Amino acid sequence: MRVLVVGASGFLGGEVCRRASGAGWSVVGTYHSGDITAPGVTARRLDVTDRAAVRALVAQVRPDAVVSTPYRYDDWTVTADGAAHVAVAAAEVGARLVHVSSDALHAGRPSPYADDETPTPVNAYGAAKAAAETAVRAVDPGAALVRTSLILGEGSKQIQLCRDALAGRATLFTDMIRCPVDVTDLADAVLELVGSAYAGPLNVAGADAVSRAELGLLVAERFGLDAAGLKTTTSTAAGVAGPSDVRLDCTRAAGLLRTRLRGVRELLAR
Ligand SMILES: NC(=O)c1ccc[n+]([C@@H]2O[C@H](COP(=O)([O-])OP(=O)(O)OC[C@H]3O[C@@H](n4cnc5c(N)ncnc54)[C@H](OP(=O)(O)O)[C@@H]3O)[C@@H](O)[C@H]2O)c1
Repeated sequence: MRVLVVGASGFLGGEVCRRASGAGWSVVGTYHSGDITAPGVTARRLDVTDRAAVRALVAQVRPDAVVSTPYRYDDWTVTADGAAHVAVAAAEVGARLVHVSSDALHAGRPSPYADDETPTPVNAYGAAKAAAETAVRAVDPGAALVRTSLILGEGSKQIQLCRDALAGRATLFTDMIRCPVDVTDLADAVLELVGSAYAGPLNVAGADAVSRAELGLLVAERFGLDAAGLKTTTSTAAGVAGPSDVRLDCTRAAGLLRTRLRGVRELLAR
């Protein structure tokens, strides 16, 4: 199996590379401004906003499968257009495509979201992730779209945000509920999907729903940090337009995948 991991210098992309190369796959990975740290990866520089460059690289690599992870929180051309360029290029060589999406395309509500629910984005990032899905599905209806949540693990920026809030350098919201997932579980799930024929959106997130503030408390407990300094507020009070309560119902993924998607309480247990 030859897999092309677009965004191999990223947190999830790097883990996908490590696990794919550990499984004996031939792995080509792309970076843009960062570095690829996973061993055994053939590194290629790529800017996904350059449609011609994406097509040329994919045509040259001729992968059996493409895992597409790139995004920039505040850059539509990377998150939406870039995803479309990758999908077009993958389709041109007949490669299996697993595109990584986000829970950020939902507005938030008290009940969990099923896999196939139509996006209801409330900010530019969520809209870009929703647009990316629409483009990917239009180009390749057979692609798998992995809707995931806060990604945890060694080097996670979500854990760093909690550490910053515990040190008084950032603030965590008590009204933003998410289903954090471990980067190794997510990478394993992505690679399982590479080897499957699953088409369309699939919720792939952890078993526990917690607020960002609760996540901060779990991080404090796990790393023996003082929780007294944790700064919290509500997104409403902070005037932040972001999805509120977004719980992903992962029943379908649990039935489909061998990978167990551990909940954050298990992940951060001491
Ligand atoms: N992190 C989370 O908590 C979270 C939650 C929900 C969904 N997701 C989704 O999961 C995916 C991976 O997230 P992550 O945290 O692993 O991201 P990340 O660590 O920030 O990595 C982003 C990747 O995108 C690449 N990239 C950025 N601009 C690019 C461009 N113009 N051309 C090509 N590549 C470019 C980066 O390359 P360089 O670093 O080399 O520039 C990097 O490899 C994303 O699609 C994100 O929307 C993440």
